[in-house]
Amino acid sequence: MNDSSIDVTNMTVAFGHKHALSSISLSIKSGEQIALIGPSGAGKTTFLNSLAALTVPTEGEIALIGQNVRNMKDPKRRAKTIGMIRQQFDLVNELPVIHNVLAGRLSEWGLLKSLLSLVFPQEKQAAIQALKKVGLADKLYTKTGLLSGGEQQRVAMARLLLQNPAIILADEPVASLDPARSEDLLQMLIKLAAEGNQTLIASLHSVDFALTYFSRIIALKNGKLFFDLKNNEITKDRLSELYAIEEEQND
Ligand SMILES: Nc1ncnc2c1ncn2[C@@H]1O[C@H](COP(=O)(O)OP(=O)(O)OP(=O)(O)O)[C@@H](O)[C@H]1O
Ligand SMILES: [Mg+2]
Repeated sequence: MNDSSIDVTNMTVAFGHKHALSSISLSIKSGEQIALIGPSGAGKTTFLNSLAALTVPTEGEIALIGQNVRNMKDPKRRAKTIGMIRQQFDLVNELPVIHNVLAGRLSEWGLLKSLLSLVFPQEKQAAIQALKKVGLADKLYTKTGLLSGGEQQRVAMARLLLQNPAIILADEPVASLDPARSEDLLQMLIKLAAEGNQTLIASLHSVDFALTYFSRIIALKNGKLFFDLKNNEITKDRLSELYAIEEEQND
């Protein structure tokens, strides 16, 4: 199996005086599927953004596939390593669905091919296959902005299929969906990552989903690693402690 490991050593992220993350160290093996949980403000998005090199840690190191993120400047290499699904999907509403999916390949193409793809979709078959996989084959040329939130999430997932990164980071991928569609989409994400041998980290507000679908659960609280356990090791007490509302901490 290809390497898609993650090693985080003593990572601290400070925004001014606020420590969004404090001295986080952990290792994730190739192909692991991990749920990231913790109360609002715990540092989940900051953690994922740091792995994706969207946020630069104040201290510590991150190695993806054995390579320091700070040195991963080549956008092509970066796109092959990390793919992210965010709450707002980052889709272009004005473009038809197929163009948004093809954008998953942009970093591999020269500028000319990228621009042409907006007129003559390149690798159309690959995009159609990806859209079929996420159950959207009938929406190829629909304007993306006209799709529902759940459908847009599927478009983002099809785009990720074309990008085919070693590591998938999903920040609350099912935040805006009803429970049945959340479950459906999460199952799809897990299946696609498993088929592609991709490492997956998904932040989730639903502890139920985390415990049901993920064998390893990493919990953050106040920017610290609160626990890193197998799903069957997690007790109700531990969860109550994780989500307990406390006095604001000054750090
Ligand atoms: N750019 C920023 N500038 C200043 N503070 C920030 C910034 N980004 C995050 N923070 C702070 O860092 C902490 C962690 O935020 P983060 O968004 O990572 O939490 P989260 O666990 O993703 O929360 P949620 O579940 O609400 O999405 C919060 O206290 C937040 O206010
Ligand atoms: Mg967040």
